[in-house]
Amino acid sequence: MSVLIKNGRIVTATDDYHADIFIQDSTVSLIGRDLVIDASHTIDAAGKLVIPGGIDPHTHLELPFGGTTTSDTFETGTRAAAYGGTTCVIDFAVQTRGTSTLEALDTWHAKAAGTTAIDYSFHMIITDMPEHRMPEMRRLADEGVTSYKLFMAYPGAMLSDDGTIFRTMRKAGEDGTLVCMHAENGIVIDELIKIALSEGHIEPKQHALTRPTRLEAEGTHRALAIAEVARAPVYIVHLSAYDSLKELRDAQARGVMAHAETCPQYLLLDIDAYDEPGFDGAKYVLTPPLREKWNQDELWTGLRAGNLNVISTDHCPFCLKEQKEIGKDDFSKIPNGGPGIENRMSLIYHYGVNKRRIGLNRFVELTSTSPAKIFGLFPRKGTIAVGSDADIVIFDPEHEETISYYNSKTHHMNVDYNAFEGMKVKGFTETVLSRGKIVVDKGEYLGRPGDGMFIKRGPYGGAYQPVAEQYRLETPGFRPAAE
Ligand code: URP
Ligand code: ZN
Ligand code: ZN
Repeated sequence: MSVLIKNGRIVTATDDYHADIFIQDSTVSLIGRDLVIDASHTIDAAGKLVIPGGIDPHTHLELPFGGTTTSDTFETGTRAAAYGGTTCVIDFAVQTRGTSTLEALDTWHAKAAGTTAIDYSFHMIITDMPEHRMPEMRRLADEGVTSYKLFMAYPGAMLSDDGTIFRTMRKAGEDGTLVCMHAENGIVIDELIKIALSEGHIEPKQHALTRPTRLEAEGTHRALAIAEVARAPVYIVHLSAYDSLKELRDAQARGVMAHAETCPQYLLLDIDAYDEPGFDGAKYVLTPPLREKWNQDELWTGLRAGNLNVISTDHCPFCLKEQKEIGKDDFSKIPNGGPGIENRMSLIYHYGVNKRRIGLNRFVELTSTSPAKIFGLFPRKGTIAVGSDADIVIFDPEHEETISYYNSKTHHMNVDYNAFEGMKVKGFTETVLSRGKIVVDKGEYLGRPGDGMFIKRGPYGGAYQPVAEQYRLETPGFRPAAE
């Protein structure tokens, strides 16, 4: 099988030029001007951007959570991702407390194998890690799972104590792997929730009011401090507010190997969404919650300045009917999470590039190259280069759509609402190639469940960061003990 993409404007994290791309089997074979080659398929990309497929390093497909399970399966969620121009996701396997993380990995492999539209990989959510099980971390890395997520929230369920966090980070630092942190002070949050409920406050907005930015900032500060002492890199997930960004900046300035992502919901939605009529505010019960609007400009600044490295979705969909409704009479029982896997590329292109908040190369970097590098997928993924997987999106910068649950071009996620309902975007995915196979073309899905495969990831690759000299890295995962 071969594909020739002609006349496109190729944009990577660093380059921007017109050329043709010849794909043979699953990888890019040749890039050049005016290529004349007999290919099985020829695509005319004149007037279009040709960009590396999006990489979404934070999704929750088929995740049991909050008494229910996320509504997108690996099949439906990855298909929606493909429609939106994402060609690889890193989802989260979850260790059941007291049991082996390797068992959890087997369970997640069984869910995803043979079902996905695009390639996928896993992080491991660690809920406990006693000394005698620490060797599992290395075995996970050998299986291609080179990052873990730990929680400072959800006491009694996911929360890890600081000792576990320190131990895990130290081991990750030694192994060249990476700990991702959900940074919030969940113990204090639980106290605030008890107070709110005891005073009769049950509505969805209470979710935001009981999770103040200061408690996210405290968690962020603690995670960064522990990583610094453990001499390990750390990746803060779903950073939502200026208070936490400030902690991140301070830590980066003193040389901590700190990375962070934010998500479209924090860049584009705000706390007023909880005032939608009736129970509709529950659509935005995700964690951390939506913040006051002024935080958005600060986050865009953080993306421009390089403090924030990635835009992921934290796609964690629950239907309003029957799932979010579990918390109709008690906001703390509303399953936490919201959808977004399909809309990230258009939203960030439109509200980032078109609105001149970020440049085109930075758009590619934030949505593809940077997650590929940090999470050990680069250069196989995250760029367009000879030898790289032909995960390529032909993106029409002129195509306008209104994102809506009711628009069959913008919503294929298995969830009964769209968090970005009514937002107009200019810039839309036209054709998607996943390892050389055309899986989406002009709104039509041409793939099949099982097109995607599990990708074993390499070690943490954060040393590429522009501020890397500050970190004085000699080998990924290490900072020299002394000057
Ligand atoms: O609300 C969210 N984000 N749910 C998913 C779990 C997590 O913390 O990422
Ligand atoms: Zn989280
Ligand atoms: Zn998440």
